[in-house]
Amino acid sequence: METVLVTGGAGYIGSHTVKELIKEGASVVVLDNLTTGHRDAVSSQYFYEGDIADTALVEQIIKEHQIQSVIHFAAKSLVSESLAKPELYFYENTVKSFVFLQAAIKAGIKHLVFSSTAAVYGIPKNIPIPEESMLDPINPYGASKRMIEEYLEWMGKVHGIGWVALRYFNAAGASLDGSMGEDHDPESHLVPLVLKTALGLQGKLSLFGTDYATPDGTCIRDYVHVIDLANAHILALHALEKGLPSKIFNVGTGNGASVKKIINESETITGRIIPLEHKERREGDPHSLVADNTEIKAVLGWEPRYSDIETILSSAWRWHSSHPDGYRCLLHF
Ligand SMILES: NC(=O)c1ccc[n+]([C@@H]2O[C@H](COP(=O)([O-])OP(=O)(O)OC[C@H]3O[C@@H](n4cnc5c(N)ncnc54)[C@H](O)[C@@H]3O)[C@@H](O)[C@H]2O)c1
Repeated sequence: METVLVTGGAGYIGSHTVKELIKEGASVVVLDNLTTGHRDAVSSQYFYEGDIADTALVEQIIKEHQIQSVIHFAAKSLVSESLAKPELYFYENTVKSFVFLQAAIKAGIKHLVFSSTAAVYGIPKNIPIPEESMLDPINPYGASKRMIEEYLEWMGKVHGIGWVALRYFNAAGASLDGSMGEDHDPESHLVPLVLKTALGLQGKLSLFGTDYATPDGTCIRDYVHVIDLANAHILALHALEKGLPSKIFNVGTGNGASVKKIINESETITGRIIPLEHKERREGDPHSLVADNTEIKAVLGWEPRYSDIETILSSAWRWHSSHPDGYRCLLHF
């Protein structure tokens, strides 16, 4: 594999993808402004601290490293923040991606894999959700990503670049040896919140709604292990290099797990009781979000290998229990 530029490669999913790319023998260049990422999470030889909207830097990196392939993770992804500050999300995600892609195409890239999200669907009518479902995002975060998908469609048609947009469901888990994992501040994802509660790093775990139309009354989500997610990007890049026409894929296991199931299994894995605080439903939380993954399996040959709940939780527990302060507790001599 040739040299790959990874934007957002210091973030949670990006850093795991960089590691898997390096295992595949790729040379990797990371561009990240470290707003939510961590320098210590980056395992590539080349790292540029900078913004995706810095067109001079983007063009310089692409030319200097003769880059043809890009994986574009860099974005803001807090749904609640996007509802409070829509202008920030359309600027940081949509506008900056527009600017970045224009510069990257000008500098000569040929292929791009883009981090989209199940949030583009909004509240789905059918579960599991196929890619051709109606797109009706219910927050600016999802809307900001949908606009990038549309932009890619036209940039691909007009400028001839091949692209894949991967609509992730819930990324979770950590590297199997526990050396890398999720470290967001604030944290909004269920698995790290449950495990941080188990470690006594925060008070009770908020449980939002127990009266949903699901078997145990709590919301169901499709958790996909971050290594399986990373591998979906690599398969997508390989397919683009072989001439796959531009395409959108869901990335999820097709199996949902309820919030209660995650809590119960976490108690078993950690051997600790997770204290709960029952709260009202949050506005806009669909009761179930589960991917129809027929397409990605059929076209890219993707198969989840680590996305069973036991592996997700035990790998995440290894990371959180050995790094209670995330990347901040790494010592430098
Ligand atoms: N985590 C999930 O469950 C999930 C689900 C669906 C989609 N996504 C998408 O996947 C991508 C990665 O998510 P994550 O959880 O790893 O997030 P993250 O915040 O850990 O990583 C994002 C990275 O991008 C960097 N970044 C942000 N804006 C930048 C800019 N303008 N220029 C350069 N670098 C910038 C950040 O510093 C960070 O390292 C995002 O695009 C997110 O929207 C994530």
